[in-house]
Amino acid sequence: MDPGLDSSERVVDVERLVTGGAALAHEPTGRVVMIPGALPGERVRVRLVDERPRMSTAAVERVLEPSPVRVAPPCVELANGCGGCDLQHAAPPAQPGLKADIVRDALGRAVRGGRFDEIAVTAGEALPPWRYRTTVRCAVDGDRLAFHERRSDALLAVGDCPVAHELVAEVIRDGRFPGAEEVTVRAGARTGERLAVVSPSVGGGDEAGPAVVPEGVRVVGVDELRAGRRAWFHEEVAGHRFRISAQSFFQSGPEGAEALVAAVRRALGPIDPATRLVDLYGGVGLFAAVLGTDRPVLVERSASSVADARVNLEGTGATVVRSSVERWRPSRADVVVADPARAGLGRDGVSAVAATGAARVALVSCDVASLVRDVGLLADAGYRATGIEVVDMFPNTHHVEAVTALERS
Ligand SMILES: C[S@@+](CC[C@H](N)C(=O)[O-])C[C@H]1O[C@@H](n2cnc3c(N)ncnc32)[C@H](O)[C@@H]1O
Repeated sequence: MDPGLDSSERVVDVERLVTGGAALAHEPTGRVVMIPGALPGERVRVRLVDERPRMSTAAVERVLEPSPVRVAPPCVELANGCGGCDLQHAAPPAQPGLKADIVRDALGRAVRGGRFDEIAVTAGEALPPWRYRTTVRCAVDGDRLAFHERRSDALLAVGDCPVAHELVAEVIRDGRFPGAEEVTVRAGARTGERLAVVSPSVGGGDEAGPAVVPEGVRVVGVDELRAGRRAWFHEEVAGHRFRISAQSFFQSGPEGAEALVAAVRRALGPIDPATRLVDLYGGVGLFAAVLGTDRPVLVERSASSVADARVNLEGTGATVVRSSVERWRPSRADVVVADPARAGLGRDGVSAVAATGAARVALVSCDVASLVRDVGLLADAGYRATGIEVVDMFPNTHHVEAVTALERS
């Protein structure tokens, strides 16, 4: 043990970031130590907070040799203990590269071994790092919107959230929701429309009273939505206007959605109106609307997204299928975009992709582990990955979004 260190302190050299955003280093004994808040190339003094035989977790006490991309996290709520935005200590322009390294590392370590080492992983350009999120789910502390504290169930009512779009941040700051347990604030950055979706109910528990919100914010209860009330807002992306219902998925914000569409275009290569496109996990119709093919087929499980997609794709000749991808009867396609939730495609999703006979596929992944697994399953199904582009949809957080280009081999 180094002199000057107590029994739970160590000085370590950080090797890399891993999935989840923590830094990995080795203790002098060889044991792996995971260190949230450290960066590759740094020498840090840490305190062990959880010791297991094969791996420990530690907190940074002091950065002895900082990374050239280290910055002071600007968010005051992070300093107050907020558990969000855990990559603020890295300069925003460096974040896409750090995330690309996480993907490279995960591919290199895949059980299927070196087969994936040759896939080129590139980092897309950095997107605006602040005021980008147009959907933010909050807990409620008293009547104020709150986030969970770091590694804790405790709630922290926040004065501001600097990654939230200003239209959303105003509701987080000034909204009051007596009796609510959870509130999802949503906005169309380019239309100014706003929704606050309150769970369990606007008129909920005993202490419930009317919500107080900035002018123009529509407040709707989850119980009302379940009873059939409809509520939506609109957003504009790449010149298209989208209706997005209270419970329909949408990307992190319009700039992120445009960057993702551009990456999907690069992954698919040339397409024209006659190209047969299948948009799996199609949501409200983002890719089917923007990619510009005639008569796209969209497959989506959520009723509210399907209803939106039918409106958003009016006039394109689209077929909108309400089904899980696993139960869908595949139709033939030239190209497929597949944008599943965190769980990824899995075997059944990959079978559906392969059954279309598509020559080219763009796989949009929001989870590194499922990305690596799906690239392996797709390889078994005859699809070779030709490149992966990281699109930094969630700057300042560890979340990795990536588009994999695949072609039938
Ligand atoms: C990451 S979102 C992508 C949505 C859309 N592609 C977009 O860009 O806005 C995933 C979508 O898949 C839908 N979904 C999740 N599991 C599904 C499944 N097994 N089959 C079909 N759709 C599913 C969700 O409702 C959600 O709309």
